[in-house]
This record gives sequence, C-alpha cells and structure tokens, in this order.
Amino acid sequence: MNYKIPRGTFDILPADSSKWQYVQQVFRKVAASFGYREITTPIFEMAELFERSSGESSDVVQKEMYRFTDQKGRSFALRPEGTAPVVRSYVENHLEMQGGRTRLYYMGPMFRYDRPQAGRYRQFYQYGVEFIGSNHPYYDAEVIALEMTFLKALGLTRPRLEINSVGCAECARDYDKALRDYYAPHLNELCPDCQKRYELKPRRLLDCKVPSCKAFRKDAPSQFDYLDASCREHFDAVCRYLDQMKINYQINPAIVRGLDYYTNTAFELICDELGAQNSIAGGGRYNALIAQVGGKDTPGIGFAGGFERLLLALEKENIQLPQNPNPALFMVLMGEEAVDFALPLIAELRQKGIYVDYNPEKGSFKAQLKAADSMNARYALIIGEHEAISRTLVLKDLSSGEQQSLSADELLSFPFEA
Ligand code: HAM
Repeated sequence: MNYKIPRGTFDILPADSSKWQYVQQVFRKVAASFGYREITTPIFEMAELFERSSGESSDVVQKEMYRFTDQKGRSFALRPEGTAPVVRSYVENHLEMQGGRTRLYYMGPMFRYDRPQAGRYRQFYQYGVEFIGSNHPYYDAEVIALEMTFLKALGLTRPRLEINSVGCAECARDYDKALRDYYAPHLNELCPDCQKRYELKPRRLLDCKVPSCKAFRKDAPSQFDYLDASCREHFDAVCRYLDQMKINYQINPAIVRGLDYYTNTAFELICDELGAQNSIAGGGRYNALIAQVGGKDTPGIGFAGGFERLLLALEKENIQLPQNPNPALFMVLMGEEAVDFALPLIAELRQKGIYVDYNPEKGSFKAQLKAADSMNARYALIIGEHEAISRTLVLKDLSSGEQQSLSADELLSFPFEA
C-alpha cells in the first residue's frame, strides 16, 4: 500500500521550512511591537462554538467544517478559523481581568473542507490577531496598521487594502430588508445557494461567483445608504485614522466577509496577482461575538491572514527569503588521533550554535574535502596526524582557498557565523 497525503493538504518540506520559520518570526516580532501576546488554542473545539459564532449562514460552518463525534458521542469540529476559539479562551480564562484592552495573536493550522485549488487548501495555516475591549475606531486602524507593518517588513508592496462597514445589527436588518426587496422579483433566477442566502443572510448574495447571480449585483442597494449616524461616524473615523497613519485604502461596499460575526468595519488585503484566491488577509469588528460566546458585552476587532497566500505573494514580487543555512565548518579528519582531538572541539562549537558537519564515512582527504564542497560549507577544518600531534589545526576558507594555522583556543573564538 502506498500512502498518499490527504487531498488539499501539503507537507512543509525541509527545503521550504526556513521560509515558513522566517515569516512566522517576522509576524511574532511585529505583533510584539504592537503589544500583542501569543495565545495557542486546541485545534478542535465543541462544534457548537463555531455554529453559534461563525454562523448558521456561513459556508465555512454549513459546508466546510470537519465535524467528528468522540467516544462519548460529543460533537466536535476541527477549527475552521481562530477568532471563535480565542474568544472562547478569553471568556473562559477571564482574560478581561488583566486590563481593559486585551491584545492576542495566534498562528496555526485551520481546516475547511473546500474545493482545493491554488491558494486554497483543506488544512492551511493562519496568523491572526484579536483586540478585545474597546469600540474606539483608533483600534480598527491600529489592527490594520499591524498587518500593513507586517507586509512591509517582509518587503511586500503590492497588496491593496479594501475596507467597508457592514453596520451594526440594526443597520444590517434594514439593509437585509432592502436587499430582499431588491432580489425578490429575481428569486427564481438565482442559484440554489443564493435562494438559501436570500432567507438566511441576504448580504451574502453580493458575494456569489455564479455569473447569472453576479449580474444583479451592480444595481443592488449599497450598505452605505443604510448605515445609521453612529456607524457612519465610526467608519469615517476609522478612515481618518488610516489617513493619519498614511495607509492607503479603497472603500469597497461589496466586501462581504464569509463569517457571520462581523459588525461595522470589515476589510481585506487583496493581492491581484493571486487569481481567484486573491485575499491574503481579512478581518473586521465583532462587537456582539463575546457576549454570544457567553462573556460580558465587549467589543472586539481582529484579522487573520493565510501563510500560503502570503508566500505566493512574496514569490510574485520576487522577494528572496532566507534559505536553510550551510555548514559554517566541515571537519576533515585523518586518523584516530585527529578524531580524538576533534570530537570535543565539535561539541564545543555546536554548543555555541555554530553549524559543524563531519562525515566519518568519507575516508580519503580528497573525498572529505569534496564532501565539504558539496555541502557548501564556508570553511574546512583540516586535522591530519601531524596536526593532531602538534595540537594545531588548519582552517581553509573554501571560497578563497586561503589557509591559516590555529590553536584549539583560537578556533573556539574564531568569528564563525552562528
Ligand atoms: P477568513 O477571511 O475566513 O477570516 O480567513 C482569513 C485568511 O485566511 C484569508 O484571507 C486567507 O488568506 C486565509 N484562508 C482562508 N481560507 C483558506 C483556505 N481554504 N486555504 C488557504 N488559505 C485560506 C477568518 O478566518 C477570520 N477569523 C479573521 C478574523 C480574525 N476576523 C476577525 N478576527
């Protein structure tokens, strides 16, 4: 039997692991500079957590969630997203007690049973942040600024920010009514999914990719005409903060997020070169979610991005990411005395974090030097019988070919790149 990886999943192979480590490390650094602390939640939760929060009308919960029943018949789900679990943990662990404003970030695999294609997987890796505890519009802009800082730190210049307001629950009710009135005469012309959306969440009609449904979008009423004064004011204030922060954005009233918990600000980072899956990150405000999950009525805002799409965007901009390191030093040892002399030195160098390699299976001097070359080592350390007796070492720079003699102490303080 030849086992195959499940469809829609991938291995992060050693050749790529340094890229993943790098983007994660940059994200950690940027999040820390905004005062965020890492939180890690389990990859499975009670299925109901997602049903209640992410939404009865969302495809993510209705069609794409990996559900399972455990040995005791309880219903769980592999997490399709990170916000509901973070909010669950915030409520369960009383994180609000640690100050009015809670800033959390996370990274990890998410699971959605979707049709796999470039940039869309069944197991994918998200990074995200959640700011909980204030409805002040400054924080909407600050959360966006964090994502922009991250993209800039990686050298990305092309992603565009699109922003919208989906209003509060009351605005959404008026808007839903306006959309239903608009779509009612065309109900029979809509795809079966949209006929359900019409009932459950008319806003999602605007997001349908079926051409015949798409055609109705251009004359549909705009959410902006249904924002009440305070939602409008909130949105204008977010835009003002973005202007002050010199963050470019486009207002796009058609942004409909795929999860149900959003209120007011909703945004996406679009990378046009990525084709159909062009949203590299998305998020927004969720002022009703914390109470929905059993906490006190507390506002929140956050976003999440996908590492796979981020790496594709970096490739499109030809941004070179760090490669796996080559050995700083390759040992070329002739005879037992040399090995005796060298092994404790190798141990000390590795203790200092220096990448040292040795291949005892290569016998001759020539074969060992060839091995050093094929590993792209920076230096070779040559110890023959003569050097072992005189306790001297020969360090050969493999790019220039220059050699120098060193004592063991000098070797240990040599400025190798760790
Ligand atoms: P989302 O828009 O569903 O939002 O996902 C965020 C990002 O995850 C997307 O922009 C995309 O980069 C990536 N992503 C989503 N699905 C897939 C997939 N099947 N394959 C590869 N990448 C994918 C959320 O998940 C919200 N929890 C974001 C949020 C945080 N809102 C408030 N706080």
